[in-house]
Amino acid sequence: MRLKDCVYVLTTVVIILIWYFSINWSKLQELAKQSYKVSDFVTDCENPGLFQSHFGCCPHKHCPVNHFPFHLHSGVADVVAAKICLNNTVIMGGIRSNAGQGLNIVVANGETGQVLRNKNFNLESKDPKELLAYLKTLKPGNIVLVASYIDPTPNLTDEIRDIFSALGSTMVKSLKPRDSWVFAGAYGIKRASPFEKLIQNDMKNNAYEDWPEMGEVIGCFPRISENE
Ligand SMILES: *[C@@H]1O[C@H](CO)[C@@H](O)[C@H](O)[C@H]1NC(C)=O
Ligand SMILES: *[C@@H]1O[C@H](CO)[C@@H](O)[C@H](O)[C@H]1NC(C)=O
Repeated sequence: MRLKDCVYVLTTVVIILIWYFSINWSKLQELAKQSYKVSDFVTDCENPGLFQSHFGCCPHKHCPVNHFPFHLHSGVADVVAAKICLNNTVIMGGIRSNAGQGLNIVVANGETGQVLRNKNFNLESKDPKELLAYLKTLKPGNIVLVASYIDPTPNLTDEIRDIFSALGSTMVKSLKPRDSWVFAGAYGIKRASPFEKLIQNDMKNNAYEDWPEMGEVIGCFPRISENE
């Protein structure tokens, strides 16, 4: 009788263990697949780990000569902040944790690719004049990279929208509360930028209830020569 009980308990334990590991094994395989998909690329982090996602690091992008690789993603709902990478280096967000609510904006020299400034503008609490002043320091040939988080629209005046339009944005004029927006343009570009994504907040179809899916653009920004 005792032995029978023992065998019974043991068998049960073994079955439970097998079941437990098979579930976790498929989960692990799924995770490994995901992280493989997220990066066919090396991540540009100080401590790249097996499951390090591109939310922390930059996906490594190769570009033709005279192009700067960049990567933008807006925030994910109100959980993951926006991120801006240039030259495969995190400038805002990700492992730097310096991105915030509102608009995150990086300004770079379009000829050398050197980052000149980066700043977060929480338009809900800050005077829009600050953003206006920041945008008015732009010089011809400056590249401007923008990624929104939580809500890009409070205090986004027509004057500010006009400036982004002049930088090549075709979508900034239709931005609405809690939309996801990423954009790369340049001062003096004189044409629509192909590097822009707007995902509209739509309560019925949102990926994250109160927020739409994140917007993401990965590309190669053409170098701007001085006498263009
Ligand atoms: C871009 O990255 C390359 C390779 O890491 C580096 O040699 C170069 O100095 C970087 N350029 C800028 C402007 O940071
Ligand atoms: C910014 O927007 C908030 C509401 O979203 C408003 O209370 C505040 O007065 C605005 N600030 C300025 C300087 O317009």
